Amino acid sequence: MSKKAITMMLAAGLALSSAPSAVLADPPAPSQNADHAFDNKVIKKISPERLYDRVALLSQTPREAGTQGEYNAVQYIKGEFESYGYDTELQPFTFQAWDGGTASIAINSSNFSGDVRTFNGSVNGTVEAPLEYVGLATPEEVPDSMNGKIALIERGSIPFYDKLENVLDKGAVGVIMFNGEGQQGNGFGYTYEGQDIPAVAIDRESGLSIVEKLKSEDIIANLTVKGAGTIDKTSYNVIATKKPHKNKDTGQIITIGAHHDSVAGGPGANDDASGVSGVLELAEIMAKTPSDTELRFMTFGAEEKGLVGSYHYASTLSESEVDRMAAHFQMDMIGSRDAGDLIMFTPDGNKNLVTDLGASAGARVAEVVEYGQLGRSDHVPFFERGIPAALFIHAPLEPWYHSPEDTIDKISKEKLTEVTEIVGSAVYQVARPDTPALENAAVAPGPVHYEFDDRPL
Ligand code: BES
Ligand code: ZN
Repeated sequence: MSKKAITMMLAAGLALSSAPSAVLADPPAPSQNADHAFDNKVIKKISPERLYDRVALLSQTPREAGTQGEYNAVQYIKGEFESYGYDTELQPFTFQAWDGGTASIAINSSNFSGDVRTFNGSVNGTVEAPLEYVGLATPEEVPDSMNGKIALIERGSIPFYDKLENVLDKGAVGVIMFNGEGQQGNGFGYTYEGQDIPAVAIDRESGLSIVEKLKSEDIIANLTVKGAGTIDKTSYNVIATKKPHKNKDTGQIITIGAHHDSVAGGPGANDDASGVSGVLELAEIMAKTPSDTELRFMTFGAEEKGLVGSYHYASTLSESEVDRMAAHFQMDMIGSRDAGDLIMFTPDGNKNLVTDLGASAGARVAEVVEYGQLGRSDHVPFFERGIPAALFIHAPLEPWYHSPEDTIDKISKEKLTEVTEIVGSAVYQVARPDTPALENAAVAPGPVHYEFDDRPL
């Protein structure tokens, strides 16, 4: 669709945010039948089985950025795009990762046999000092006699930052923290700027056994952290481009994205293998569907490390390219059986072309989609470059978010399919080559009214 066509939609009182509310207030009921023949060119081809199978495949292993797991996913995605006939680019970039080096503890000169993990941000060094148990390390629990000692702390109730500050204020020289009740393993812990002491994590059972030991004897602990620091790692964006029909090129570009990386140790079935599968499905279908708009299908790396891949991609766009970019659709966590309803988030909480298109596509496919305010995903760098962008996600979130339980058995084919249909039909409303033809009721979408929703996450 051209800018002119979008202006025509506005004039017709269609789903654009700036349309007069008198027009939007009393919309006709969305029609479920043949009126929206154009939608069917995309929607009818979406396969719930293919959507589900890709999530199953991708979520067999974690895909933390910079690991072999991510690389395997990247190769799979590239292979899929190519098999649909796309020119596909791997865009590498570096990001700073934490390498914990090696950490060890000795208790009264005998080696502690459990696993010791360095806190993210810990300094290197060796301290040898009396060990003192300080509970949760609230200000009331840390004694004045802490000075020159190593603090043994239970995780929980207050942030890492505060625990470290409370013991540092009283002169602690090192920190050993054990996990809170019900928490497994020892993969946790951060130190912050200025908190310059060795700090390590151990599991709960080990921690409690040291607490027991301290009841009957004094302990001199030796705490060593070696080789910890940040290192550069490589992650990738995967980008497949569909050029518009030569004779019908509006000059506009639409991007459709998801992130393929997961958190460490998480299979990330919903976060965000689901979105990747949605992107691949739409790419597969659109490969054979003529359009008047350039479409770029992309999956980002290192989203979980701070939106690193999408910031990198956005930084590679020229001003003239940005001017041509009409909309970015981000699919992140679109398939959880246990999450709430679909919502579209924008970083500033304002409607834009993407939410307008999504709300009206929602009305055609299922029901009107509401919008809200949230960053926290790859729509942010697009928004910051002035490109209309929104995140499609279900809220409230499922309890498995960022956990090892984010697995394929929690994925709903229906949810995956519905969101992919809505995004696909919204994209196609702009990309279909028969526009501008919106005055033709046989193809025009109905106007919709949609609202701000601040439901909890
Ligand atoms: N899929 C989430 C984004 C999300 C989480 C949206 C919760 C809505 C509610 C995403 O992968 C994520 O976890 N993002 C990070 C932010 C990033 C800057 C590291 C987050 O929210 O912690
Ligand atoms: Zn995510």
